Amino acid sequence: MRIALVGDVHGHFNWLYRSIQKYLPNADLILTTGDFGAFRSVEDYYSTKIPKKHMDHNFEYNLWKDKIPVKTIFIGGNHEPNGFLKSLWETQGQFSKLTDNLFFLGYHGATNIGDTLLAGISGNYSPKNFERARKHLDIRRWRHFLKEDLEYIRSLKSMDYLMIHDWFQGMENYFKCKFVNCLSPQLRDLIIEKKPPFVFAGHMHTYINLKLNENTRFISLAILKENTKIIEKFEYNNHEFFIFG
Ligand SMILES: [Fe+2]
Repeated sequence: MRIALVGDVHGHFNWLYRSIQKYLPNADLILTTGDFGAFRSVEDYYSTKIPKKHMDHNFEYNLWKDKIPVKTIFIGGNHEPNGFLKSLWETQGQFSKLTDNLFFLGYHGATNIGDTLLAGISGNYSPKNFERARKHLDIRRWRHFLKEDLEYIRSLKSMDYLMIHDWFQGMENYFKCKFVNCLSPQLRDLIIEKKPPFVFAGHMHTYINLKLNENTRFISLAILKENTKIIEKFEYNNHEFFIFG
């Protein structure tokens, strides 16, 4: 199975599927690590916090009209149409289907890829909201990952791949943090405890590929660009991974 790993798409679906068709036309699956940007229209901006620079969704590639050429699984980032994702989460739960070939793994979720397990946590860290229950949060706060999401991942026996959006405590050397406590110690502890062989992340728009410890390799993906292409490959089990950046 050939799997494309792609970072924040921010609604540039035309760039995404053009790049895949050009560089990996026989891809079986695309995994993308949040800030996917499945806005149906500008109306969906109400339920998120989104800077102007990411409000340039041109809706050129219409997720609901154009055929999605490759099965795509995404987690949420901190700039998503949370009103829409909430309705999917409440009606379909994990692995919600948006349209043919397009799936939201959920605010937390897991799914099999062949005989491996992919788990995921959407959103970024907010120390102030971490202990709160999602159902009590304002819709714009659904962009954060919470203790309840980490508890779900903790309940899984094991996993092969963990998709996250935000980084975690310990990665400060690679990122200039403007705030106190901007990276999550809880997420770091979860990764150490659950020992996923691979963690895939987005959010920082930076490509990093390093061994976190003897159990886990951490791959942070670059932001999707117009000319995104394959920058590295690796294999795990029967899966061939192609890192786009
Ligand atoms: Fe982000």
